[in-house]
Amino acid sequence: MIVLVGFMGAGKTTVGRSLAAELGLRFVDTDMVIAQRARRTIPEIFDQEGEAGFRTREREVATEALEGVDAVVSLGGGALVDPAIRELVASATVVHLDVSLPEALGRVGTDARRPMLQRDPDELYRRRDPLYRRVAAFTVATDGRSVEEVTRDVSGRLSGAPR
Ligand code: S3P
Repeated sequence: MIVLVGFMGAGKTTVGRSLAAELGLRFVDTDMVIAQRARRTIPEIFDQEGEAGFRTREREVATEALEGVDAVVSLGGGALVDPAIRELVASATVVHLDVSLPEALGRVGTDARRPMLQRDPDELYRRRDPLYRRVAAFTVATDGRSVEEVTRDVSGRLSGAPR
């Protein structure tokens, strides 16, 4: 099981999809599954159920994915705040996609589809960054790099090949 973690805008969905294709694995993006199941967008879920409602859904979907068949699983940027999810990822190969806050804000800062960004991004970033690093087998830089470059880097590190 390969799990991609990182702050919003790190490229977890795009790199996850491309990595899964390269490795011939199934791809699961927990945010996509949450929205499909709820038949609502993430902002609608936040509006109607609050962050707590979203987190309950996220725990359920992440648990299923992480206990399911081998896959590349992209978690939402806040998933590791949940101790149950942290425990589940401990037995997976976790890859941290590192993005600086300025670059993340440049990529998704104006995206209304990310309700958590309406709050205090600096504070969020400071609290979350250590969580990603703590669970990750390794960290890959993404600032200024294409999806292809990042995917190649991740798959090289996964196979232990020299970079
Ligand atoms: C969140 C990140 C989002 C999504 C939700 C909450 C967060 O995922 O799960 O909006 O708390 O950081 P991405 O990291 O894929 O944007």
